[in-house]
Amino acid sequence: MTAPVLEVHLSETDAAHALRHDVRLGLSADPKWLSPRWFYDARGSELFEQITMLPEYYPTRTERELLRQVVAQIAARAAVDALVELGSGSSEKTRLLLDALTATGSLRRFVPLDVSESALRAAMAAVAREYPGLVVHGVVGDFTEHLELLPAVRSERRLVAFLGGTIGNLVPNERAAFFATLHAALHPGELLLVGAGLVTDPAIMVPAYDDAAGITAEFNRNVLHVLNRELGADFDVSAFDHLALWDVTHEWIEMRLQARRAMTVQVPAIGMRAQFAEGEQMRTEVSTKFRRAGLGAELQTAGFTDQLWWTDPDDRFALVLAAAS
Ligand code: SAH
Ligand code: TRP
Repeated sequence: MTAPVLEVHLSETDAAHALRHDVRLGLSADPKWLSPRWFYDARGSELFEQITMLPEYYPTRTERELLRQVVAQIAARAAVDALVELGSGSSEKTRLLLDALTATGSLRRFVPLDVSESALRAAMAAVAREYPGLVVHGVVGDFTEHLELLPAVRSERRLVAFLGGTIGNLVPNERAAFFATLHAALHPGELLLVGAGLVTDPAIMVPAYDDAAGITAEFNRNVLHVLNRELGADFDVSAFDHLALWDVTHEWIEMRLQARRAMTVQVPAIGMRAQFAEGEQMRTEVSTKFRRAGLGAELQTAGFTDQLWWTDPDDRFALVLAAAS
């Protein structure tokens, strides 16, 4: 087995700067917001893994089942040398792709990219163990900033997988920039596989982001623990309630943290004080649900053509395979 290689594009100082910048901006805005990127420290990644197993959280198992059914068709179209995975997390569902792509014989390299170094290291070690002969080259990085730094070998043809509905965590202008940058980083004919949540019944969607066991609430509040640890902030984490709302206009689930009482929070690392009124809500994440026409057009605009679409029988989740023009 080849030892996995870990490349770090997101040095600790870069991450620390980005965190300070985001928090300064978000906490002084009205309404306040925090960037979802900061959910994923080691504890956050662990909590997300628990979310994927909740009875209410249908996206993971729906995408896994769909992937299981179409992965042979994907492999038949994608005679690729490398599989790149953005926001790879545990790379659990990715095993289905790795199995199918190694079975066709061409796959040499797996390049998972994630901001969470702990999740990335664990996934890399497991994949390297399970797929001897596969070169595992992990990248600690931000998929909104480091796509042009992805390892590219001229002779290598890549399939980029972006699973889990994570594309929906970007707002429209961020998505357009993301798709355009990704397209620029790819050679013509290289492939993109996106997993995206679809608009469905709010009675199905909302509980997926507000489970009875309270794991999603804990995940949402974890971002405050990150600020307390990294910036010396003094958030009373237990004084915030988790909210998940379906926004019919934007067609996204919006996650918020609501202050149960008025409070002043000190954030020493950026010399800031934030006042919260009783009941004040702060946005922490959106999870956009798509319609085929809309997402298809966004991909097309960025230069991703020859789209192949698959959806589950209940139309809750889609996989799209497209080629860079
Ligand atoms: N792909 C996995 C995990 C999805 S959760 C699945 O389908 O289950 C989202 C993942 O994206 C997490 O692992 C998180 O650490 C990562 N992530 C979030 N924002 C990111 C960013 N800006 N750049 C890179 N990775 C990011
Ligand atoms: N990509 C996941 C999604 O949009 C991330 C996620 C799941 C999430 N549950 C969450 C983000 C709860 C914030 C809060 O489905």
